[in-house]
Amino acid sequence: MSIRVIVAGASGRMGQEVVKMIGQHDHLILTGGVSRSQKGRDIGEALGLAPLGIDFAGSVQEALAKFDADVLVDFTTPQTVKENMELAIQAGVRPVVGTSGLSEQDLKELEELCRERGIGAIVAPNFAIGAVLMMVFAAQAAKYLPHVEIIESHHDRKLDAPSGTAIKTAELITKNRPEMKQGHPEEEEVLDGARGAYYQGFRIHSVRLPGLVAHQEVLFGGSGQLLTIRHDSLNRESFMPGVKLAIEKVMELDHLVYGLEKILDL
Ligand SMILES: NC(=O)c1ccc[n+]([C@@H]2O[C@H](COP(=O)([O-])OP(=O)(O)OC[C@H]3O[C@@H](n4cnc5c(N)ncnc54)[C@H](OP(=O)(O)O)[C@@H]3O)[C@@H](O)[C@H]2O)c1
Repeated sequence: MSIRVIVAGASGRMGQEVVKMIGQHDHLILTGGVSRSQKGRDIGEALGLAPLGIDFAGSVQEALAKFDADVLVDFTTPQTVKENMELAIQAGVRPVVGTSGLSEQDLKELEELCRERGIGAIVAPNFAIGAVLMMVFAAQAAKYLPHVEIIESHHDRKLDAPSGTAIKTAELITKNRPEMKQGHPEEEEVLDGARGAYYQGFRIHSVRLPGLVAHQEVLFGGSGQLLTIRHDSLNRESFMPGVKLAIEKVMELDHLVYGLEKILDL
């Protein structure tokens, strides 16, 4: 079965990879792309590829009106992702979303909208399959080693902190770890933020540096032992098998799924 796809944020770092990935699979057909900065230009030419004969739309609304599609892949910004998803769901187009920044409340509302429309959607804070395994293993380890800290490191163009992956990892950990305040009860921060963000008694730290892509360590400490679970995405291709799988799976869904682990056979 062919799947027609519109990519929002197609001029961005992730969006460009998605456009390339779609071009490598016969059953995936790029029918449209959204970019405010490249509006009106041929998608292929604007991205330094062979011309595709499809011009960039300037908004998701315009793209949905102009191009037929089964799926909207969104790698845009935290400020625009919710509205993009709502527009797609209302148009009967299934969102596959990697953009970070959706709150729990946003996800609840989007879940409700999907239910009303009987339409599938996938939101994944991390499409790298190795990163999903890291999250699942971290959640398992927390059953036995409840003292934990998360350190996530990303390139310095990233807008949100902590990363969606770190938040998702924390959520999965708390499913297996009752709330417990770690560290010395009288611990004091000499410099604000030195201990990182507080999440149900443990800490999440965010590092931002040029040269980094997407990395995360989950550190567990116990009496006389340490366990480190680490994942590194070394380039944006690492996310593409997960995006491809989500585009295929979302066609079988009639509700919103949050997290790639829910569509993997683990
Ligand atoms: N889930 C995952 O596995 C994963 C992996 C990596 C990144 N991410 C997330 O994916 C998102 C995109 O990352 P990126 O590195 O590709 O960012 P990026 O290079 O900045 O690309 C984002 C694109 O979104 C477009 N855009 C910006 N503001 C917009 C708006 N208001 N309306 C519509 N389009 C807008 C921009 O293009 P125009 O200005 O041309 O419109 C830009 O090219 C981020 O939230 C990031 O955290 C997720």
